[in-house]
Amino acid sequence: MLRTILLYLSDAGWARRIVRNWRLARRVSSRFIAGETLDEACEVVRRLNQKGMFTSLDHLGENVTNADEADAARDDYTHMLQRIADTNLQSNISVKLSQLGLDVDFERCLHNIRVIVTQAASFGIMVRIDMEDSSTVDRTLEIFRELQRSGPNNVGLVLQAYLFRTQDDLNALSHLHAHVRLCKGAYNEPAEVAFPRKADVDRNFDHLSSQLLDFAKSTAERPASSGKFPPITAIATHDERRIAHAVHHAETIDMPKGSIEFQMLYGIRPDLQNRLAASGYPVRVYVPFGSEWYPYFVRRLAERPANLKFFISHLIRRKGNES
Ligand code: FDA
Repeated sequence: MLRTILLYLSDAGWARRIVRNWRLARRVSSRFIAGETLDEACEVVRRLNQKGMFTSLDHLGENVTNADEADAARDDYTHMLQRIADTNLQSNISVKLSQLGLDVDFERCLHNIRVIVTQAASFGIMVRIDMEDSSTVDRTLEIFRELQRSGPNNVGLVLQAYLFRTQDDLNALSHLHAHVRLCKGAYNEPAEVAFPRKADVDRNFDHLSSQLLDFAKSTAERPASSGKFPPITAIATHDERRIAHAVHHAETIDMPKGSIEFQMLYGIRPDLQNRLAASGYPVRVYVPFGSEWYPYFVRRLAERPANLKFFISHLIRRKGNES
C-alpha cells in the first residue's frame, strides 16, 4: 500500500514541484544521488574506480514533454561520453528513452539514442537502455532491436523480473546475443501485467538469471559471434539470495567470474559491493546525478520503508529544532 502511494507520488508533477525545492529532501536524497553536476558525479566514479569497481553514469531525467528537452538530454549525454573518454573513467552510461523523447516522437527518440550509441562506440563505451514502466516495453524493445540490427553491438537493455511478459521477451532476444541487465522492476504496475507478490518476483528473478547465464555460456562457446562487446550477464540487485543463486548457477555451469557482473545502485549496500569486488566478481555501480532527482529518489524510498522512516525522522527533528 505504502509502496503504491509512493510510486504514484514519484510520477505526480505537483509532488515533484514541492519536494524538489525542499532543501531537506535534497540533502536526504544525496545518499542515493552523486550530486547535481557532472563534475561531482565524475568524482564519485573516480573513487569507485579506485576501489576496483566499474560504474554506469545516469544523467537523471525522464518523461520529457517536448523535442527541445529531448535533444538537450542527447547533447548532455554526448558531452558526458566525451568526458568519460577524456578522463579515462571506467564507466559506461545508462539512458532512459523517455528522456530522449519516446513519448514525444518515436523517430526523434530513435535518432537521439542512435547519436549517443554511435559516439559511445567510437570510444569503446557501452550504452545501457534502462527499462521504464510497462507501457514503454514494446517501444523500448523495438528501438533496441533496431540499434542491434544497424550498430556495433555496444547497446544493452534491461529486463524486469516482475513482469509476466519478461520470459517471452528473453526468449525472443536469446538469438541476438543481447546484453541484458536483469533487475526486479521499480514501477507501479497493475496485477494484470506484473507479479504482485515479492516471493513470485524473486522466484522469477532466479529462473531468468539462470537462463541468462545459460545463454551467455552458449555464446561464449561460439567466440566468433561475440564481437568487440561480448555479452556479460548483468545481475542488478542488492538481494543477497538472488546473488547467491546466480553465483551458484554460474559455478555449476562452469562460467568464469568475469562473465557475470553484479550491478548495484549508488548508496545502497556499499558493504556488499565491496565484498563482491574483493571476491573477484566485476561490480558496476549505477551512479545517478543531476537536478531531476525527484522520481528516482521516490522510487528508492518506495523500495524500503526504512528509507521513508529515515526521511520523516529527519524532517521531524528539523521541525523540532526550528520551533
Ligand atoms: P529488494 O527490493 O528485495 O531489496 C533487497 C535488499 O536490498 C533489501 O533488503 C535492502 O537491504 C537493500 N535495498 C534495496 N533497495 C533499497 C533501497 N532503496 N534503500 C536501501 N536498501 C535497499 N528498475 C527498473 O524498473 N528499470 C531499470 O532499468 C532498473 N535499473 C537498475 C539498475 C541497477 C544497477 C539496479 C541495482 C537496479 C535497477 N532497477 C531498475 C531497480 C530495481 O528494479 C529494484 O527496484 C531495486 O534494485 C531494488 O530491488 P532489489 O533487487 O535490490 O531487491
